Amino acid sequence: MTTPAFRPDPETFDKLYRGEPAFEGAPAPTGVPWDVHQAQPRLMELEALGGFSGEVLDIGCGLGNNAIYLASRGHSVTGLDGSPAAIEEARRRAAAAGVTVNFDVADATDLSGYEGHFDTVVDSALYHCLDEEGQQAYIAALYRATRPGARLHLSCFSEGNVNGVIAPMGHVPESNLRDTLTANGWRIDFLGPTTYLGNAVGFRTAGDGFPEHLVAQMPPETLEQMKEMTERFAKISELIDDDRVHLPFTVVHAHRVD
Ligand SMILES: C[S@@+](CC[C@H](N)C(=O)[O-])C[C@H]1O[C@@H](n2cnc3c(N)ncnc32)[C@H](O)[C@@H]1O
Repeated sequence: MTTPAFRPDPETFDKLYRGEPAFEGAPAPTGVPWDVHQAQPRLMELEALGGFSGEVLDIGCGLGNNAIYLASRGHSVTGLDGSPAAIEEARRRAAAAGVTVNFDVADATDLSGYEGHFDTVVDSALYHCLDEEGQQAYIAALYRATRPGARLHLSCFSEGNVNGVIAPMGHVPESNLRDTLTANGWRIDFLGPTTYLGNAVGFRTAGDGFPEHLVAQMPPETLEQMKEMTERFAKISELIDDDRVHLPFTVVHAHRVD
């Protein structure tokens, strides 16, 4: 069974990237919880081990940290995200890093115009942002946007626990990943636990209660999970350097069946 989850819409992401409150009356965000100003450690390992080849797609690329790293390692990279503000900042960071990435705004559940284009896809924390219908449409869109044999590296929130830290919102059951990928033309080579480096600055604000508008939009289970995450985080936050925290994720490595 899928944990009921709060799935922010694209406009909510865009507001966060613009530093604006997600809802009227809500406080302005203190930071982007996934902006660690570097590529994900697991992605860098994967790249060193030969996990990327051909035309690479970083889908839901956000501020471009992973895409920029992959380009700096010599890959031909496209970074797509639903948020215009994220893409604008990703382009700025790529220019500052002196690398070329084809950044553009796109809806991951559609991907028209990219048919048969990519050989490797990385999804770093996009999948858990979509509801089940969106997940099906997204994985089907990835099938259309890739070539036969293409590789997919997908990571999303798990039910796990990293030194007391749990996911701040709904995790994705492994059965959901297995069913959705295999139903849409992907064969799973590995599925298992991993970690994702997050920026704890995004978790600090929620400690004294949640804005009413946010509470009204969230399923009670999601609110409970966010409160538990915040309480746990309060206990360890003084021990954390540089606001970096490892979050429990599941990683899937799959390839496109012809
Ligand atoms: C948790 S962030 C991860 C960003 C980046 N991959 C990283 O690891 O730093 C999820 C990203 O997915 C994007 N996103 C959510 N729904 C999307 C959709 N339907 N199409 C494209 N991007 C989407 C959001 O705008 C956000 O930038």
